[in-house]
Amino acid sequence: MQKFYITTPIYYVNDKPHLGHAYTTIAGDVLARYYRQKLGPDNVWFLTGTDEHGVKVSQTAEKFDKTPQAYADEISAKFQFAWDQLNISYNDFIRTTQTRHEENVEFFVSKLKEAVGPDGQSVIYKGTYEGLYCYGCEAYKTENDLVDGKCLDHPNIEPAYLKEENWFFRLSAFADHIKEVIERGDFIVAPESRKNEVLRFITDGLDDIAISRANVDWGIKVPFDQDQTIYVWVDALLNYISALGYKDNDEKFKTFWPANVQLLAKDILKFHAIIWPAILMAGGLDLPRVCFAHGFFTVDGQKMSKTIGNVIDPNNLVAEFGSDGARYLILSQYPFGNDGDIKADDFVIKYNADLANGIGNLVSRVLGMIEKYFGGLVPQGKYGAEYNLKDFWGNLDQGYADLKLYENLKSMIDLVSWCDNYIDQTKPWELAKNDQDKLEKVLYNLIEIVRHLSIAVYPYLPETAEAIWDKLNISQVMVETKFEDLQKIGLMEPGLKVTKGDALFARK
Ligand code: MSP
Repeated sequence: MQKFYITTPIYYVNDKPHLGHAYTTIAGDVLARYYRQKLGPDNVWFLTGTDEHGVKVSQTAEKFDKTPQAYADEISAKFQFAWDQLNISYNDFIRTTQTRHEENVEFFVSKLKEAVGPDGQSVIYKGTYEGLYCYGCEAYKTENDLVDGKCLDHPNIEPAYLKEENWFFRLSAFADHIKEVIERGDFIVAPESRKNEVLRFITDGLDDIAISRANVDWGIKVPFDQDQTIYVWVDALLNYISALGYKDNDEKFKTFWPANVQLLAKDILKFHAIIWPAILMAGGLDLPRVCFAHGFFTVDGQKMSKTIGNVIDPNNLVAEFGSDGARYLILSQYPFGNDGDIKADDFVIKYNADLANGIGNLVSRVLGMIEKYFGGLVPQGKYGAEYNLKDFWGNLDQGYADLKLYENLKSMIDLVSWCDNYIDQTKPWELAKNDQDKLEKVLYNLIEIVRHLSIAVYPYLPETAEAIWDKLNISQVMVETKFEDLQKIGLMEPGLKVTKGDALFARK
């Protein structure tokens, strides 16, 4: 049986969730929902969570006069709340302060202590780190990483100079192996531009990395050296296996590891495409199949920032447009993978055009006509419209395999336009006067397309899909029928009672 394990980054709890976090998480949810349709719900595991250790979190907590744990509890709850609002169907939400995680990290790091790398040397060793550290990234920096002495992602945070004894991980020893698995495609780094970036970086040479910190209290202690705290990124990356019960070799771990898709943005690519696979290799574990790093977005042409005041709170978006509306407005902006701009000024226009006057109106129109001309009973018919539903599904399935989430969504909206045109051209209101036979055919075609559309939009717009299934009187069928059968053509049963009911989207 095929399985699908998908992860998002675990987000720092130094601030409440914003649209950037929501973007990756919604994308993950779309994939998880699609694969649940395709493989069955038991064969999909969708993990998200919060990254709660590290100096950045403890400093922020201190600013608010809270203990790091109390602060992490508060913000982590805000993430869970926002994800519930957005209808994120995660299977597990991991927090790095949970005992189950901490025990796994200790176990893994102890294992590393005993491990020997490809060069025959032990993979970890004690050394001295001397250099710069950005608390914004929680990352060590070289002069080359900085511009005018500042981190590009955190220009307001002065990099700290550190000189301390640490435990080091022999990353350099894994360089050739990582390059090889990426080039061979055994470990896919996507999109292609990100893969090239990672390969270039490896070719330039990899230094060993410090994996513990002295003088950092808020974190997990190195099990064999209680004066040292495990570097927050090593702690965080291990969440992807700790959540599955790696230490105890749980059934869940055996079933779902390695991850099929790990989603993240380009800011944390090196951690996921270089350090993470090296750590896994050192621990003797399989590598994820795909590491997909999408771009960063701006909002109305500007970087999201508190100073500019354009930081979008996902909860506000849900309050205004509903959870499906919010999901739609975020994912329909630009191709997944690219950098892009979220046009928040046009949210209302887009919501009205694509959802209220698009999908919503089409469903009302078709069901309204079936009520009017056929007393709400699906007319006799056999699907015969020119629109090729088989190709529609073929393209969607391929699109999901390639993570073309934007293109897939667009093809659904294009299908809505196709139907609107079809209605305008066939003019059912005229057929009702003079061609009953054709009227039946046209409305059968339309209701069958609406059925397909409702199944297709489910990963993006789960509430809308379920509301349509209700209207089509097929909610039970949806539960009982396999996805590949649902994709077949002509499943709408003539004679079935359908109901127009309320509009799916209120116009703004
Ligand atoms: N805690 C680490 C991740 C550890 S994973 C083992 C972290 N957290 S974060 O809170 O800073 O989240 C970074 C992620 O948030 C990005 O990789 C991306 O998924 C998402 N985004 C944050 N801002 C974004 C944009 N402006 N645009 C797109 N995605 C954004 O890094």
